[in-house]
Amino acid sequence: MSVEKTLSIIKPDATKRNLTGLINTKFEKAGLRIIAQKRLQLTRSMAEKFYEVHKDRPFYNDLVDFMISGPVVVQVLEGDNAVKLNRDVMGATNPEDAEEGTVRKEFAESIEANSVHGSDSLENAQKEISFFFANIELVT
Ligand code: CMP
Repeated sequence: MSVEKTLSIIKPDATKRNLTGLINTKFEKAGLRIIAQKRLQLTRSMAEKFYEVHKDRPFYNDLVDFMISGPVVVQVLEGDNAVKLNRDVMGATNPEDAEEGTVRKEFAESIEANSVHGSDSLENAQKEISFFFANIELVT
């Protein structure tokens, strides 16, 4: 096993319902350490850039609108196999497919308002972390 860092976003549907602490508890109980965290109001251009990989998908514009509809909490999680571990804790993208006990099963409202984002690979984790954080902000 190797210690990895991954980028997590607690999305507007979850911050609006005051779920940051409950979601963070799930991360910490699973063995992920929150080594950086900040609450932001994303601008449209930030959200467009962050989700650029999805720009040709039919849901892109709605996704950008949703991600700027309220505050987000961006965070860096660290732990053994953190990228996969975080995805296991989050559950499937569509909450209807998510397993019991996962963040999305418990908290997500829909495939769009699905409470959390997590990097899907180590390579993307490094890109996504540097999108939001300077190295000096990662306190291990
Ligand atoms: P996320 O992990 O943040 O990455 C892209 C997001 O697009 C995804 O979570 C979903 O919230 C959102 N999304 C909206 N509609 C769809 C869809 N039909 N398929 C996949 N992702 C979708």
